[in-house]
Amino acid sequence: EEQESKEQPLVGKHVLITAGPTQESVDPVRFFTNHSSGKMGYAIARQAADLGASVTLVSGPVSLDTPPGVKRIDVVSAEDMYEAVLNEMESADVIIKAAAVADYRPKETYSSKMKKQEGPLTLQFERTKDILKEVGKRRREGQFIVGFAAETDEPVRYGQEKMERKRLDAIVVNDISAEGAGFKGDTNVVTYLNRNGKQEAYPLLTKDDVARRLLLSIATDLKGE
Ligand code: CTP
Ligand code: CA
Repeated sequence: EEQESKEQPLVGKHVLITAGPTQESVDPVRFFTNHSSGKMGYAIARQAADLGASVTLVSGPVSLDTPPGVKRIDVVSAEDMYEAVLNEMESADVIIKAAAVADYRPKETYSSKMKKQEGPLTLQFERTKDILKEVGKRRREGQFIVGFAAETDEPVRYGQEKMERKRLDAIVVNDISAEGAGFKGDTNVVTYLNRNGKQEAYPLLTKDDVARRLLLSIATDLKGE
């Protein structure tokens, strides 16, 4: 029994994960999005299930298979993701927000296809809701909340600032300009920061290995509370 709990430290835990990009429509054929492939979030979902957690994955549009045993909820826009996460967060022990949520969306969504015209096009954008900030506000006692921050400059400084502003327990920062890191590939280079000041710089690893190590760091921090 002792052996089992060592290998599966997340037995009995419900882990809610978001993954992938969001798409923000401007008309029925066009949308704005980002380079997220969803691979990091899906790796976390797969490894969390493997470590014994019950896993809910709220996913933006990606072309990846649902990991075995994972409950997947598909969403398209930041607004959809906001609703899905708020609906699901109550029962979660751990919330990990790996999704690359659009910060802006077209102010107007046209119901007919826009036709091209002479000259340049100007569109107005408005802010989307910050899902993680809202999760941080509504968090209940005992919930462990983890954000992600992909940066091109000063990842640790920006990460710490986001962890405080969004009231997170931990944040995973990566420097997407580093070799082997970022959105598209199968590897990543990240640093795990927690609110007690711990800083763990992981080496270059596959996204599955990053996910595994991250979940073990989270399991350790969960026990320490
Ligand atoms: N996030 C979110 N909802 C948003 C934007 C971001 O939940 N509308 C979450 C992301 O899923 C991630 C964390 O917030 O876990 C940090 O995202 P990031 O884009 O790095 O931070 P922002 O606060 O959006 O700041 P900026 O993009 O200006 O760096
Ligand atoms: Ca952002």
